[in-house]
Amino acid sequence: MKIQPPILVLTGAGVSADSGVSTFRDAGGLWEGTRIEDVATPEGFARDPVKVWRWYDERRVQVASCEPNAAHRAIVEMEKTFGDDFTLITQNVDGLHERAGSRAIHRLHGSLWSMRCTGDGRRFEQREVPLPSIPPVCSECGEMLRPDVVWFGELLDAAILDAAATAAERARTVLVIGTSGVVYPAAMLQLIALEHGARVAEFNPERTALSEIATEYVAGRAAVTVPSWWNAHRPST
Ligand code: APR
Repeated sequence: MKIQPPILVLTGAGVSADSGVSTFRDAGGLWEGTRIEDVATPEGFARDPVKVWRWYDERRVQVASCEPNAAHRAIVEMEKTFGDDFTLITQNVDGLHERAGSRAIHRLHGSLWSMRCTGDGRRFEQREVPLPSIPPVCSECGEMLRPDVVWFGELLDAAILDAAATAAERARTVLVIGTSGVVYPAAMLQLIALEHGARVAEFNPERTALSEIATEYVAGRAAVTVPSWWNAHRPST
């Protein structure tokens, strides 16, 4: 599969697995032993915000001890190579793409390093781990802060979703890296791209529903497969 710009990269938790960040649905994943309803819904937060914050802070502490891997770095190189013809869309809230140097990035599901006031919606960046106090409160109005992530049952940011859908329609080459493809609307993007005639390469140690319709399925761990695929397909200078 030859790379034809514009190029779109879609990532999920699997791209960070080789950095030591837990995925959600794999064996030993975050949803094993934790009820989504308790920690990743507005209702769960209303019921027990301390429980929710403890769960997010454990993830923040884990991610803070991890480093971007070779897949994150190869994606940065792609961005440098294709410039405006490159878009990265991630479902991840871990911030490892940004730490690797990615800039042209749309975060569909928010960030572990940002908080939102439940009173006036104001956003605050917070990188201290562990959190100095749980639950954290707004320094402006004293209301409780919530994790700035998209919970199940909540809508994604319309502007981000629009930009993502436009990038999926325009892309000629799409790399789908480390996602089970079961969460919508994120999982729609690779289908939109296929419908618009893009060539899609999937990178995942396990086959998913996309593997059946993708142009190319690359089995293996992203930190190995993505850099080697990129080295084999990068435009010769
Ligand atoms: N390299 C590449 N892919 C991997 C690796 C690896 N080293 N390890 C695991 N994977 C694959 C798994 O096979 C699986 O298909 O990554 C995928 C991870 O799937 P999920 O855990 O379902 O994560 P993701 O697809 O990102 O979840 C989507 O669901 O829970 C919500 O909001 C959360 O953004 C998340 C969304």
